[in-house]
Amino acid sequence: MAGSNALLCARSAATGKTNIANRRTALVDCCNIGFTFSFIVNLLGMGDVMNYSRCFRVAALLGAAISAASQPKPLSSFDPQIKPLLARMTLAEKIGQMTQPDQEYIKDPADIENYFIGSVLSGGSSDPKEGNSLRAWTDLYDRLQQHASRTRLKIPILYGIDAVHGHNNVLGAVIFPHNIGLGCTRNAALVEKVERVTAEEVRATGIQWAFAPCVTAPQDVRWGRTYEGFSEDPQLVRQLAEAAVRGFQGTDLASPLSILACAKHYVGDGGTTFGSARGGAAGLDQGDTRVDEATLRRIHLQGYVAAVKAGVGSIMPSYSSWNGVKVSGSKRLLTEILKQELGFEGFLISDYNAIDQVDRDYKKAIGISINAGMDMAMVPNKYKEFIANLKQLVEEGAVPMPRIDDAVTRILRVKFAMGLMDQNRPQLADRGLHKTFGSAEHRAVAREAVRQSLVLLKNQNQVLPMKKTAARIHVGGKSADDLGNQCGGWTIDWQGKSGDVTPGGTTVLAAIRQAVSKGTRVTFSKDGTGAAGASVGVVVIGERPYAEGDGDRADLKPAQEDVDAVANMKAAGIPVVVILFSGRPMILGGVLDKADALVAAWLPGTEGEGIADVLFGDFQPVGKLSFAWPRSMAQVARHAGDKDYDPLFALGYGLSY
Ligand code: BGC
Ligand code: BGC
Repeated sequence: MAGSNALLCARSAATGKTNIANRRTALVDCCNIGFTFSFIVNLLGMGDVMNYSRCFRVAALLGAAISAASQPKPLSSFDPQIKPLLARMTLAEKIGQMTQPDQEYIKDPADIENYFIGSVLSGGSSDPKEGNSLRAWTDLYDRLQQHASRTRLKIPILYGIDAVHGHNNVLGAVIFPHNIGLGCTRNAALVEKVERVTAEEVRATGIQWAFAPCVTAPQDVRWGRTYEGFSEDPQLVRQLAEAAVRGFQGTDLASPLSILACAKHYVGDGGTTFGSARGGAAGLDQGDTRVDEATLRRIHLQGYVAAVKAGVGSIMPSYSSWNGVKVSGSKRLLTEILKQELGFEGFLISDYNAIDQVDRDYKKAIGISINAGMDMAMVPNKYKEFIANLKQLVEEGAVPMPRIDDAVTRILRVKFAMGLMDQNRPQLADRGLHKTFGSAEHRAVAREAVRQSLVLLKNQNQVLPMKKTAARIHVGGKSADDLGNQCGGWTIDWQGKSGDVTPGGTTVLAAIRQAVSKGTRVTFSKDGTGAAGASVGVVVIGERPYAEGDGDRADLKPAQEDVDAVANMKAAGIPVVVILFSGRPMILGGVLDKADALVAAWLPGTEGEGIADVLFGDFQPVGKLSFAWPRSMAQVARHAGDKDYDPLFALGYGLSY
């Protein structure tokens, strides 16, 4: 079997053919046989970058049946290979593996060589200097990887990025619904598929690591990161966390179409008390989670139990504190519970400058965090300072050498598992994947995710589904023709932004225009005026993009312009369908009363056709709330079992036709 696969593989590589069948199998988990293939490809002298992945695809086609049932190999199974390598490494080389600067702040790329840097990230707005194109990203990755290949030990870098809803920093990538929407699909197989596609788009730029999935279980929707969580319900988080890890990593991390996943933010990021936000701000982000250990485990730990079980290779400790102690400096949480008790064998990556928050004295903070169990430090700009301080701490005996060796072993386990240490394997980007980046095939998966994520909250007099043959549909609202609002935060920029943020997507207005019959007139006014005489009105309103603490809110009422747009439409005396783009439930008040139908669409991403599919009944609504919908601000942060708990729409609510 292996022999005939190899032959076919060689032939396909030689003719350079990639066909549709191969493309499809790229989405199938492949390649325990990858190692065998890498050997054969090399033997035949065909190990160039592009053919390599094609080869894997043929392997996937023929070998899926063999590998489908396989479980990921335990990461510690690579330890025998790591031991001799570790013995050859200098302290500087070891610390380099533990250091992750942001490319934005690397003034001299030779720093990668000089400091033996093991990993690089791009933060939320850290684009290549040459511009935000697929090509520029790929060139950037290749350039930095080439620097790593010039070091004594030639250990490739792991490049990490926040691919939290598709490869969302890159222009033209498919943008999927944020996790809150995926949570409402309650469809683990679909979530897995979404992350398979995301992995492939990330790989197209060479990048091999996503800081995702976020497996938080937000308990207070005033938090600006609510939308990054699948659900407030830990059991749903658990289920989808496992699926997401499988999607990113596949059955084998060694596949050149898999990427390393990172479950975040461990642990309790979604449980902070309102008013405990960083710097005493009146919010929740990076605050303090004040719960006992049993509650921490029951609500906040569940996603990690599942992610570890699925073989997640990295986990990001949270900025937040647990009962006043910074998680990023907690040995109890990082080492005792996560590594010893749950048996996590991968490595911990600190959050962006999170170590700074562990102690006022930076050197002391580094010592506390590394000794607590942090393995790699995300030190966007202060990498030289981090390296110098950690070196001193080791020399002074404040950080023991076995702790450093453990951290480096964990990082190298992942690098071995991913095939990064295979000298015969190309580590530069597979530009053959550019062909499917942002492709119709990938967009179809996102469209399916959008359809299934929509939650129908109200449908009076069966206004929905609408007729494609209606004489006239009037569309309004500030977000009806705004791709940026449709995608939310973590889109192209860290905070996201309103407007035409990325090419290739479809707004709701455009999707409605595409869907209706020839005879139907679609009219549009942002403020909802001019609707008189239309058969039906559709108003798209909601939150403007935000990320992290910038989205913390004490009040979740809609903006006045949204209230007005709905009122203007309603004043025309026509049935009104309201579509809400938001990162969480909102307190809708009069808007809900005026709406004949209301659809919670969350932050659906670029594929607005998925919304039109549901509006016109081509697809029946199946989404069920993954968060309870509070009746008033007094009801936020209340949960089943709490006194006076009385949600407007319960967890799991959702109508259909
Ligand atoms: C966020 C993380 C993110 C990191 C890198 C931090 O501010 O909390 O979720 O992965 O930045 O962009
Ligand atoms: C970066 C984000 C990061 C944030 C942390 C931003 O400048 O782009 O990735 O999460 O800073 O505050």
